[in-house]
Amino acid sequence: MSEPKQLNVGLVGAGVVGGGVVKHLTRNADLITERLGMRIHLKWVCDKDESRLKDLPIPVQHLTGEVQKVLQDPDVHVVVELVGGTGFAKTLILDALNRGKVVVTANKALLAHDGEELFSAAAKNSSNIFYEASVCGGIPIIKSLREGFVANHFPIIYGIVNGTCNYILSRMTADDLHFEEALEEAQSRGYAEANPALDIDGVDSAHKATILASLAHGFWTGFENTYVEGIRQVSRLDIQIARELGYTIKLLAVVKSDGDGNSPAVEVRVHPTLIPHSHVLSSVNGVFNGVVVNGDVVGDTMFYGRGAGADATASAVISDLADAALNLKFGSKQRVPAFVAHRLHARVRTIDDVESRYYLRLTVEDRSGVIAKVSQILGDADISIASVLQREAPEPKAGHTEASSGTVPLIMMLHTAKDRAVREAVAKIDGLSVVKYKTVVIRVENFDATTK
Ligand SMILES: NC(=O)c1ccc[n+]([C@@H]2O[C@H](COP(=O)([O-])OP(=O)(O)OC[C@H]3O[C@@H](n4cnc5c(N)ncnc54)[C@H](OP(=O)(O)O)[C@@H]3O)[C@@H](O)[C@H]2O)c1
Repeated sequence: MSEPKQLNVGLVGAGVVGGGVVKHLTRNADLITERLGMRIHLKWVCDKDESRLKDLPIPVQHLTGEVQKVLQDPDVHVVVELVGGTGFAKTLILDALNRGKVVVTANKALLAHDGEELFSAAAKNSSNIFYEASVCGGIPIIKSLREGFVANHFPIIYGIVNGTCNYILSRMTADDLHFEEALEEAQSRGYAEANPALDIDGVDSAHKATILASLAHGFWTGFENTYVEGIRQVSRLDIQIARELGYTIKLLAVVKSDGDGNSPAVEVRVHPTLIPHSHVLSSVNGVFNGVVVNGDVVGDTMFYGRGAGADATASAVISDLADAALNLKFGSKQRVPAFVAHRLHARVRTIDDVESRYYLRLTVEDRSGVIAKVSQILGDADISIASVLQREAPEPKAGHTEASSGTVPLIMMLHTAKDRAVREAVAKIDGLSVVKYKTVVIRVENFDATTK
């Protein structure tokens, strides 16, 4: 049997990422062909907004506004879904798989919610789904977990996986901006959407954390089991105090496992986190992403790069197309299984049972006896205090409520405690008459098991 000469691709969705894929597949066509020993051919580029197609460097007979032309073409080996969303995109992927076509997607929202169903449809049809671009754009984290680290369990994965949040927090840190000012700047530079909720509420990071956790631990952890807090509540004051204490605040995705043989408990969470200045993740700034993977064989590894944008994301999509091309060349759609389900008895730990260290910022009346009252509540809950810092009241900026007259910030760093115990104690603390605002609670990560 002669080897196929080219991989025929039907790309659906010629927006930001789709446009990037077309551009780079065209521009670096010779290089890619040389490396793979076969060509990646854009048989169809499809978008419902046909105005997106007219300037693409693709002959007009390969452009269409009708997705059925792509799906019904028996010569198309791979359908690339770059539409986004969880409605039409899901129907498109299932339809392509049912026709025996391979799928490449960047759609983290869809995979986080419906990955289990989609991958079982792929298995049923002896096909495959590739999704490198769904997590951290251009960083090859999926392929690394799946192939490069095949010998490893993954006790810990830490990730700064959302460029928008990282840009906002970096700007607040570097130039003492308030959250609203940094968000506005991110929007004016095109780093944040007009409606930024998906990013700043941590949902996009939680999608990515769910995918990483599922791949790393071999079962679908479920988006609903990923604990998520966004960055709306992170104030300039907390960033300043954290800095004095030797920490930077980042939105961190954390995937930890207790490594208990075939039935581990895995925690999957996304929240603002105090990271020591000495840790490499504290210097991942701006729109960049960073991921630290701790494997039981390899030890610590670090990935750094652009997590979004047309070019970086196209690089990841094209690497998936290269895998699909090699599979076709060597006659196996599943040469490397894209997702391996093997942990039948694993479970996800609820946030109540997660253990962490904590930063508390109380806003209290400026008088004696306050610390004793708060310490009593924490002591009764068996939570021990690592250090206490009482700050002078800061100058509040007009329109912001970081402090008011007669109150001072009281900062407490707690030793490791269970999340539920801390939340219950803080609820009691907030009930004290000397406590004037809701206490700010931010988790602290000391990276004990990974490189500092
Ligand atoms: N942008 C990034 O940096 C980035 C990074 C990583 C992953 N991703 C993921 O990549 C995917 C695409 O993102 P994007 O930023 O490229 O989105 P985008 O710019 O909005 O592009 C999506 C394109 O698909 C078109 N489309 C919508 N429904 C369609 C249909 N039924 N048939 C054909 N075309 C249709 C849209 O047309 P209309 O505009 O007319 O709706 C638009 O042109 C998403 O899943 C996203 O999460 C994006």
